[in-house]
Amino acid sequence: MIKRVGGAVLTGYFSLALVATLGLKAYWHDYKSKPVQPIEFPHVKHVQVVGLKCTDCHQYVDKGKHAGIPPMSKCMSCHESAATDRPGVQKLTKYWKNEAPIPWSKVHNLPPFVYFSHKRHVKFFQTNRGIQPNDLCKECHGQVKEMTTVRQVRSLTMGWCVSCHRQNGASVDCYTCHK
Ligand code: HEC
Ligand code: HEC
Ligand code: HEC
Ligand code: HEC
Ligand code: HEC
Repeated sequence: MIKRVGGAVLTGYFSLALVATLGLKAYWHDYKSKPVQPIEFPHVKHVQVVGLKCTDCHQYVDKGKHAGIPPMSKCMSCHESAATDRPGVQKLTKYWKNEAPIPWSKVHNLPPFVYFSHKRHVKFFQTNRGIQPNDLCKECHGQVKEMTTVRQVRSLTMGWCVSCHRQNGASVDCYTCHK
């Protein structure tokens, strides 16, 4: 009898530990792994070969909360004629002809109870530290210009946000990020 109870407790303990481990693994896997996109859009080529700047496509970084994903018309301004033999570009052209928006999956996701705005960050570092918007992205997104598929490389946890706020004398009041 006593043995069985002990066994049950032990099993309970181990399954709890297992759930915790799996939970952590799922989270880790979630943001470290490569997201699946409807079209594999290679940042590395567009930045390093074609020579576009981040802000050519993400044009709201210094204007609003969201950086913005470029509309298809932006892509088609080149891809009516550029690289039309590539499977990815043919997929793009199909979406364009069907007037169907490309269902990109969002890579970075803060929980809904956290407030974040690109504009304030971009403006602050430009004005107070002389860092141009295109040189700031890597602080929070890593080296996107070297990525074939963008993935999240920073944890985006509260501790991560707060430690940069401390380093730069920005507010760490709860209300700043939780309105
Ligand atoms: C030709 C246009 C273009 C250029 C130039 C460009 N991007 Fe993008 N970016 C996109 C598109 C389209 C997506 C959505 C597809 C994806 O996530 O792979 C995207 C996605 C992203 C994401 C992920 C957004 C999310 O869902 O969380 C980040 C971060 C990003 N870009 C940063 C950058 C940075 C930094 C640069 C400059 C080094 C840059 N981009 C240059 C078009 C562009
Ligand atoms: C201080 C950190 C920080 C900086 C600097 C930053 N980002 Fe972001 N970015 C984030 C966070 C956090 C998210 C997720 C926001 C959310 O889930 O609401 C995000 C989301 C995005 C997205 C997808 C959603 C959107 O807002 O449109 C794109 C695209 C993006 N960033 C591009 C850029 C580019 C390009 C730069 C450089 C000009 C840049 N970011 C600079 C933290 C940052
Ligand atoms: C300024 C012109 C320009 C813009 C804007 C542009 N591209 Fe491209 N893209 C190119 C060129 C040039 C190549 C061929 C690069 C190479 O491989 O040398 C290319 C390559 C590609 C490829 C093929 C990659 C491969 O090797 O298979 C895809 C897919 C693609 N672009 C998608 C997009 C999407 C989606 C957008 C809009 C978000 C976009 N492009 C915007 C010029 C552009
Ligand atoms: C690279 C350093 C850095 C990182 C990382 C960072 N911040 Fe900030 N943040 C700042 C600085 C500096 C300011 C002060 C800006 C000012 O005073 O104009 C600021 C200001 C803010 C503000 C107040 C401005 C506004 O728009 O109301 C919010 C909200 C904010 N950050 C949220 C976040 C969140 C959420 C994260 C994490 C997901 C984050 N920040 C990550 C440096 C950073
Ligand atoms: C600079 C931005 C920032 C500040 C300041 C901040 N938080 Fe957060 N907080 C976040 C982000 C981002 C998350 C979501 C990611 C995470 O859970 O780490 C979060 C998550 C949380 C959560 C949910 C944790 C969970 O496990 O789901 C609580 C509770 C919380 N914050 C409370 C606070 C309190 C209390 C303060 C003030 C002492 C505070 N926060 C200040 C950015 C911030």
